Amino acid sequence: MRSLRVVTDLPELLAQKLARAFADVAGSPADPAVRRSDRADYQADGALRLAKQLGRPPREVAAEVLERADLGELVANAEIAGPGFVNLTVADEALSGLVEQMSADTERLGVATIPEPERVLVDYSGPNVAKEMHVGHLRSTIIGDALSRLLSHLGHDVIRQNHIGDWGTQFGMLIEHMLDLGAGETAQELSVGDLGEFYRDARAKFDADPDFADRSRRRVVVLQGGDPETLALWRVLVEESERYFAAVYERLSVLLTPADIAGESSYNDQLASVIDELVQLGLARESEGALCAFPEGFTGRDGGPMPLILRKSDGGFGYDTTDLAALRHRVHDLKARRLVYITDLGQRLHFELVFQTGREAGWLGADARAEFQGFGVVLGPDRKRLRTRAGESVKLIDLIEEAVRRAAAVVAEKAPHLSAEEQAEVAQIVGIGALKYADLSNDRAKDYVFDWDRMLSFDGNTAPYLQYAHARIHSVFRRGEIDPASLAGAKVVLADPAEHALALRLTEFEGVLHKAVEEVELHRIAGYLFDLATAFTSFYERCPVLRAEDEATRTSRLVLCDVTARVLATGLSLLGIAAPIRM
Ligand code: ARG
Repeated sequence: MRSLRVVTDLPELLAQKLARAFADVAGSPADPAVRRSDRADYQADGALRLAKQLGRPPREVAAEVLERADLGELVANAEIAGPGFVNLTVADEALSGLVEQMSADTERLGVATIPEPERVLVDYSGPNVAKEMHVGHLRSTIIGDALSRLLSHLGHDVIRQNHIGDWGTQFGMLIEHMLDLGAGETAQELSVGDLGEFYRDARAKFDADPDFADRSRRRVVVLQGGDPETLALWRVLVEESERYFAAVYERLSVLLTPADIAGESSYNDQLASVIDELVQLGLARESEGALCAFPEGFTGRDGGPMPLILRKSDGGFGYDTTDLAALRHRVHDLKARRLVYITDLGQRLHFELVFQTGREAGWLGADARAEFQGFGVVLGPDRKRLRTRAGESVKLIDLIEEAVRRAAAVVAEKAPHLSAEEQAEVAQIVGIGALKYADLSNDRAKDYVFDWDRMLSFDGNTAPYLQYAHARIHSVFRRGEIDPASLAGAKVVLADPAEHALALRLTEFEGVLHKAVEEVELHRIAGYLFDLATAFTSFYERCPVLRAEDEATRTSRLVLCDVTARVLATGLSLLGIAAPIRM
């Protein structure tokens, strides 16, 4: 077990202390398996597995571990329970010390940065030129955005890459269609939101009119040959789309900027050399007129090897070749050490073939690793893929607008005390937050049901619930005329069990972030924030804050409030969600 340098991560601090005792008893490293417990604060289950390994009774092993463990000041009580669990109750003194540390750390709330930061490249969003962005792009965009924020927060050097679909055979028909419409005027007339329609019209013509289809195919060749006039028309489409994407990103408040775009076309001049390299390495061969790589370990339906198409029989290059070029460029030129690809799970095979080819070519290996982190489908109320009433895929921009519209209605009802202007501002934040949180709070790899009422509810594991909990703490500060900045580092005393329980949750923040970043499990952060807000609610119901029995208790409770508010705001911001101080 690798031990992470942590500052306030209580479960990890316990695990590190126990790990030494476990290693002594085992004779080699053994995982203490510390987790939250109903019976005590935490329990360590590692003795059960170790006992099996050593062929000894688990309770005896647990007793030996406890005897050797130096739990120091951290633990008030440790006892063996059941078949051999170790139940741990954390000492109030130690716990309050950790919360004080979080409170004093105005920048990072006691979250250590990674000791060995890496350059991490995140490939996400990736919408297609001249097509509408759909909910799949929404998922990729907000998952990628949250991951980028989290990686940076933990100290990594993040490169965002927006691999937009701006190249390929579809541009032949799009450009021919532009020319048919009178290209000059088209440039002016093509406007945001019309691109989807433009694409559909071109497609319909392509399917119905063989002459048009023929012209389109010739146009692709001309485009790929670098004809300046054709390229100029292509650029009109790309620029119009990029403006549209930028408007959506701004609406969503995500980090992506035009500088993050490295579209398929940007690899055009590297395709030939990638193919040459693969040929030289003996990784490419002809198959049915196409040039293919057959990465090891994949079998097709017919039991034969599975191809990655490097050059189609008509001489063209496609999605596969472009991704190989992108991979090589990202490792060799951008010097990425960890590469994370975020698309729908349907593209898993494509990326696995690309990564395996990259390993065989020596681009990936000990110094650079690539991961596919796919996501599930967004389902409608009928549990089928989310569609509009007309059966079309839902446009992202429509979803965003509806989220804000619905949030405005909820805010008007829940926060009538705010001015119209404030309500509009809060509706933005709540609507966008709800949309993002509904996505991020679900296990990434699973499908989820899109449900407006649920995501905008002020109860349950939702953005509005967490945002409201945060604003409520600020309303306590306003009522008591407290400047929260003045609380940093003040003394914390934990007397009530609800204070103890809240403090425990607070000290889990650091560990949750480190765990979430490993496997891109953002729902861990969401679940944690929900548990924290729940613990806060119990505390707030039991323990008077502004009217606490004495000054020391009042200050201590205010610190608990402040650290909770800051953890909520920071956690939400890592998910790309804002937390207003008034709502
Ligand atoms: N344009 C693709 C799509 O809409 C996503 C691109 C993902 N990234 C990549 N390197 N292939 O599905």
